[in-house]
Amino acid sequence: MKIAVLPGDGIGTEIVAQAMKVLDVLKKDGMKIETEEAAIGGAGYDTAGDPLPESTLALAKASDAVLLGAVGGPRYDKLDRPLRPERGLLRIRKELNLFANLRPALLYPELASASTLKPEVVAGLDIMIVRELTGDVYFGQPRGIEVRVDENGKGERVGFNTMVYSESEVRRVAHVGFGIAMKRGKKLCSVEKANVLECSELWRDVVAEVAKDYPEVELSTMYVDNAAMQLVRNPKQFDVIVTGNIFGDILSDEASMLSGSIGMLPSASLDENNKGMYEPIHGSAPDIAGKNLANPLATILSVSMMFKYTFGDQATADRIDNAVKKVIAKGYRTGDIWTEGCEKVSCGQMGDAVVAAM
Ligand code: IPM
Ligand code: MG
Repeated sequence: MKIAVLPGDGIGTEIVAQAMKVLDVLKKDGMKIETEEAAIGGAGYDTAGDPLPESTLALAKASDAVLLGAVGGPRYDKLDRPLRPERGLLRIRKELNLFANLRPALLYPELASASTLKPEVVAGLDIMIVRELTGDVYFGQPRGIEVRVDENGKGERVGFNTMVYSESEVRRVAHVGFGIAMKRGKKLCSVEKANVLECSELWRDVVAEVAKDYPEVELSTMYVDNAAMQLVRNPKQFDVIVTGNIFGDILSDEASMLSGSIGMLPSASLDENNKGMYEPIHGSAPDIAGKNLANPLATILSVSMMFKYTFGDQATADRIDNAVKKVIAKGYRTGDIWTEGCEKVSCGQMGDAVVAAM
C-alpha cells in the first residue's frame, strides 16, 4: 500500500502528523504500508513555485492513495489565481479524475450537545453526501474577469463562470450515489436547481435514467434551496444525497455543523477504480495553525475511509473508527468540541489517545 502524504498548509502538518501515528501502529502490526511526503498548496508554492508541483503530482499518480491535510492561508491570498493553494487542490482532483467525493455527516452521541441544533433533531444523524468533484462551475469554460463594453461604449468589468455537466459525468456520479445507497438505507436524494438551471434539468433526467438500474433504491429529488432548509429542519430524513460540485460544497459544510464540529468529518474522493484522495473536510485554519490546538480526528477518520474504500479493508477501518469512538467516550476533547466536564487535550494528545485506544 503506497500512500502519498501531502500535509499542505496551516494545521495540515499537525493533523497529518497524528494520522501518521495511526499508520505507524498499523505498520508495527505488520501491514505493508509505504508512505512518502510531498508539498502541495502554499507549501508547494514555497518550495517549487507551484501549488501542485510536478513531482507531487507524479507521486500521487504513482501511489494507491493520497492523504491530504489542508491547503491555503492568508499569505497566499494575493497571489495570481493559478498560483493560489486552492488551485493545487482543484488540479490534483482533476488530474487524478477524483469525480466522486464522499462526505459523511455522522453524529457521535456524546457530541450531541456540541451541535447548535437541538439534540433530538440531530441524535442518531448519519448522512452521506456524494458530491461530484471534477465538473460544474468549478471547472467549466469559459471563465474569467474581463472588461465588456456596452452599446454606448461604456466599459465595466464582468466576472463569469460556466455551469456545465455532461450526461456521462452525471451518470457516473449517480451510479456512485445509488451504489452507496444500496449499502445503506436505500434512500437517495438528488439535489439540484432544475426549476431555474438547464444544467440541473439534465442532471435530473440522467439521475432518473440511472435509477432504473436500482429499483430497490427510493429516489427523491429536491431543489438545493429547499435541501439547505430541510438539512437544518429535519436532517434525519436524509440517507444519501447526490449533488453537483458547488451545491455539494455548500451543503456539506452545512451538514458538518449538524454533527457539532467540522473538525470531526473526513472525506474520500474516488476515481472509477476506487483509487482515492482522503482529507478532512475542514480547511487549513490559519488562526490556530502551529498551536497544537487542531482536532486531528477528521484526518484520522480519513485514514479509516482509505482502508474502507481504496484498500477494501473494513476490519482496519472499524479498528480506527472504534478507537475514535473510544476517545470520544472517554471524554477527550480538542477545543472545537470541548464542553464543560470534558478533558481538553491538544492535537498531539488526541493523536496519542487514538493510538492508545487502538
Ligand atoms: C472543499 C473546499 C474546496 C472546494 C476549496 C478549498 C477549493 O471548500 O473541499 O470543500 O471548494 O472544493
Ligand atoms: Mg468546501
